[in-house]
Amino acid sequence: MNKERDRGMAISVQGVVSRGKGEPVEVTEVLVPEPGPGEALVRVQACGVCHTDLHYKMGGIGDNYPYLLGHEAAGVVEAVGDNVTEVEPGDFVILNWRAVCGQCRACKRGRPWYCFNTHNAKQKMTLADGTELSPALGIGAFAEKTLVAAGQCTKVNPAIAPATAGLLGCGVMAGIGAAINTGGVTRGDTVAVIGCGGVGDGAVLGARLAGAKTIIAVDVDDRKLEWAREFGATHTINSRNADAVEGIRELTGGFGADVVVEAIGRPETYNQAFFARDLAGVVVLVGVPTPDMKLELPLLEVFGRGGALKSSWYGDCLPSRDFPMLVDLHLDGRLPLEKFVSETIGIGDVEAAFTKMEHGEVLRSVVVF
Ligand code: APR
Ligand code: ZN
Ligand code: ZN
Repeated sequence: MNKERDRGMAISVQGVVSRGKGEPVEVTEVLVPEPGPGEALVRVQACGVCHTDLHYKMGGIGDNYPYLLGHEAAGVVEAVGDNVTEVEPGDFVILNWRAVCGQCRACKRGRPWYCFNTHNAKQKMTLADGTELSPALGIGAFAEKTLVAAGQCTKVNPAIAPATAGLLGCGVMAGIGAAINTGGVTRGDTVAVIGCGGVGDGAVLGARLAGAKTIIAVDVDDRKLEWAREFGATHTINSRNADAVEGIRELTGGFGADVVVEAIGRPETYNQAFFARDLAGVVVLVGVPTPDMKLELPLLEVFGRGGALKSSWYGDCLPSRDFPMLVDLHLDGRLPLEKFVSETIGIGDVEAAFTKMEHGEVLRSVVVF
C-alpha cells in the first residue's frame, strides 16, 4: 500500500498543533489514518489541558515538532483495526499513555504497572501536507478524532461525564496513585502533600479515600489550599509564610508524616518532604523535575530515617485495574472527581488555558468536543 493511498483513506479533523518551540499553538487540519492492526480510532469527547502539553510547546520534552497536543482524554471508540480484542466500536473509554505490552521483563514478573515497553499506534497522524505529527504522550487528543494503540483505550462505565473521566488519564490518576499505589497510604496514616495542583489534589483525594486520618496540604497559594480542603485536606500550610517541615511535624505529634507526597518536582520541596516524614516513613516524588536539578541530602539521614524514597510514574497505575474502579467510586459518590474540572472550553481556547494554568487560576481546563 503506498503513501498516497494511505492518505486518501485518512479522515480529516481539526486538532491543536504546536509547530515550534514557544510558538502559540494553532488549530489546524489533521489527517487521521484508518486504524490498522492493533489500533483504534477514537472520537474524542473531552481532553484536559495538562502541564505536559505546555512542556511540549515550550520545548521541554523534545524537539520532534510538530506536536499534536492533548492526552488527558475520554471518548468513544469509532473503529478498530485487525486483531483488536480489548475494545469495540461504541465503547466509552479513557485513553492511557501506558499500554502494557505483556512481554517485557516487568510484565513477565507480574508487575505490568511498571511495563518497560508500552506501545502506541504504529501509523502516524499528519498535517494536511503529509508532515508527520508527534502525538503528545503517544495520544494527541486535542483533536476531534485520534488514532491510538487499542491497549491505550480503557473501557469504563459511560455514566461518568467525559470531561471528568478524561482527567483520570493523566494528572489526577498520577496523584491518586502516588498516594495509594506508590505511597501505600492506608487507614489511620498521616499524610502530607506538597504542591496542590491537579496532581497534588489527586494525592489528597487518594489519601482521603484510603482512610488517612490527617492530610496536610502545603502550597504557596492560598487559593490552592482552599481547593485542597475541598478534596479532603484536614490541615493546610502556606509555605510562603511558614516553615513546611516544622508545620507538618507540629501537626503530627512532633514526628512527621507517614507518607509525604512531593507533587511539584523541585529539590527544595523534595528536601522538605524528606525532613517532614516520620521515621520509617515514605517520600513519594510524583512531580517531574527538569534535567538540570540536583539533590543534596545527608546520607546518614537517608540511612538513619529508614523507610523509603520512591518515585511514582503515572501513579504506578494499571489502567485496566484502576480506571474502571475509580470511575465506579466516583459514580457511587465517593470520589468527587468533577471538582478538578475548573472550566470547559473549546478547541480554540488551549493557548488561553495555558496562560490561566501558568497563573494558577485553574486546576484543569477541559476541551469538550
Ligand atoms: N512550595 C509549595 N508549593 C509550590 C511551590 C513551592 N516552592 N512551587 C509551586 N507550588 C505549588 C503551586 O502553587 C501549584 O499549586 O505547586 C502546585 C503545582 O501545581 P500545578 O502547577 O498545577 O501542577 P500539576 O498539574 O499539579 O503537576 C505537578 O506533577 O506531573 C507533574 O509535570 C507535573 O511537575 C508537575 C507536577
Ligand atoms: Zn511490558
Ligand atoms: Zn498530563
